[in-house]
Amino acid sequence: FYVDKGNHRHFMQKEIYEQPEVLSHTLGAFVDMTTGRTRIPNGQTLDFSNVRRIALSACGTGYYAALVGRYYLERYARIPCDLDVASEFRYRESPLGDVDLALFVSQSGETADTLASLRYAKGEGLRIASVVNVQESTIARESDVVLPTLAGPEIGVASTKAFTCQLISLAALAIHAGVARGVISPERELELTRSLAEVPRLANEALALEDTVEALSREMATKRHALFLGRGFSYPLAMEGALKLKEISYIHAEGYAAGELKHGPIALIDDTMPVVVIAPHDRSFEKTMSNMQEVAARGGRIILFTDAKGAAGSGSDMASTVVLPDMPEILTPIIYAIPLQMLAYHTAVQMGTDVDQPRNLAKSVTVE
Ligand code: G6P
Repeated sequence: FYVDKGNHRHFMQKEIYEQPEVLSHTLGAFVDMTTGRTRIPNGQTLDFSNVRRIALSACGTGYYAALVGRYYLERYARIPCDLDVASEFRYRESPLGDVDLALFVSQSGETADTLASLRYAKGEGLRIASVVNVQESTIARESDVVLPTLAGPEIGVASTKAFTCQLISLAALAIHAGVARGVISPERELELTRSLAEVPRLANEALALEDTVEALSREMATKRHALFLGRGFSYPLAMEGALKLKEISYIHAEGYAAGELKHGPIALIDDTMPVVVIAPHDRSFEKTMSNMQEVAARGGRIILFTDAKGAAGSGSDMASTVVLPDMPEILTPIIYAIPLQMLAYHTAVQMGTDVDQPRNLAKSVTVE
C-alpha cells in the first residue's frame, strides 16, 4: 500500500495529528455511541465475570500501554493483573496459578517475543485476547478474541497513534469488565463512556500545544540525558515519554516512578539535568510535587506537564509548565501522551536525526 505524509514533514508528525480521528474510530468499536454501553468489538464476547487473574504481556511501547491497562483493569474492574515484557513472560515459566486470561498488546501483531508468549499461554490452556492494530496479523489469527485498534497503518518506527488507541481500547475493556463483575453500575458505565467520548476534543486541545512544546524542545536538543517522572497513571507515561525521546533523538532518557527518585536518580540531578514531570492534578499530585521540589532544590531543569489546577498548585516558577485541559482521570494517560510525543518529535527534528527511521530500530521485530 502507499500512504503519504500529506502536509507533514514526517510520518511521525502526521500520525500524531491523526490521533483525534483514529481514537474516535477505535472508541466506536468498543462503545455503542448511541447507548453509551461498552462492548467487545465485532460481535465477539469475552466474559470477565469469572476471570480470577489476567496475565498481560507485550514489548516496547505496547508494554507501556499494557502497564496502563493493568492500572485500568485493577482500578475499574478490580481484577488482579500480572505484567511482563513478553521476552520474560515466555521464559520465566511462571506458575500461572489462578490466571484465566492472557492479554497481549501489539501494534504489528508479528512481534516474535509476543507471539512466543501467546503460544506458551495457549499451550498452558489459557484463553487468549489481543489488542492488535494489524487485523490480518499472526497474533490476531491465533487469538481467541481480537480487540482491534483502528489506528490505521503506522509508518513511523516510534509508535504514537497505535499507543493511544491501545490505551483507549484498554480503558473501554476495563469498564466492560467492571460492568460484568458488578463493580461498575450501569450509571457509572455511562459516565465513564461519556468521559471517553471527550477524547477526540481533548486530543485536539493537546495538539494545539505544539508551539509551546516545540519551544521547550530547543533546550532539550542540547542535552545528553533526561529524566521523566510520574506516579500512578502517569508512571507508565514517564517511561513511554523517555522511550520516545531515546528512540528518535538518541538522548539517554529514563522514565521513573516519581516515588523512586530518592532511590537513585536524584544522584544525577544538577543544573544541567532536564527532568520532565507528568502530573495532572489527580490523587498523586501532591506527592509528585514534593518530588519535583527535591529536583528544583538541586537546580534541575523541570518541564512540567499538568493542568490549570496543577499549575496553580505547583509553585510554577520552578518549572517550564505546559498546561493541558482539565479532564477525568481515566483520560490522562491518553491525552498526556500527545505532548510527550511532540516533545520527542521536535527534539529529534532540532537534532536532525532520521525521525521516521531511527538508527538500529525496526518497526516490527520478528526475531527473538
Ligand atoms: C518495535 C517497535 C516499537 C514497538 C515494539 C513492539 O520495537 O519499534 O514501536 O512498540 O516493536 O511492537 P508491536 O508491533 O508488538 O507493538
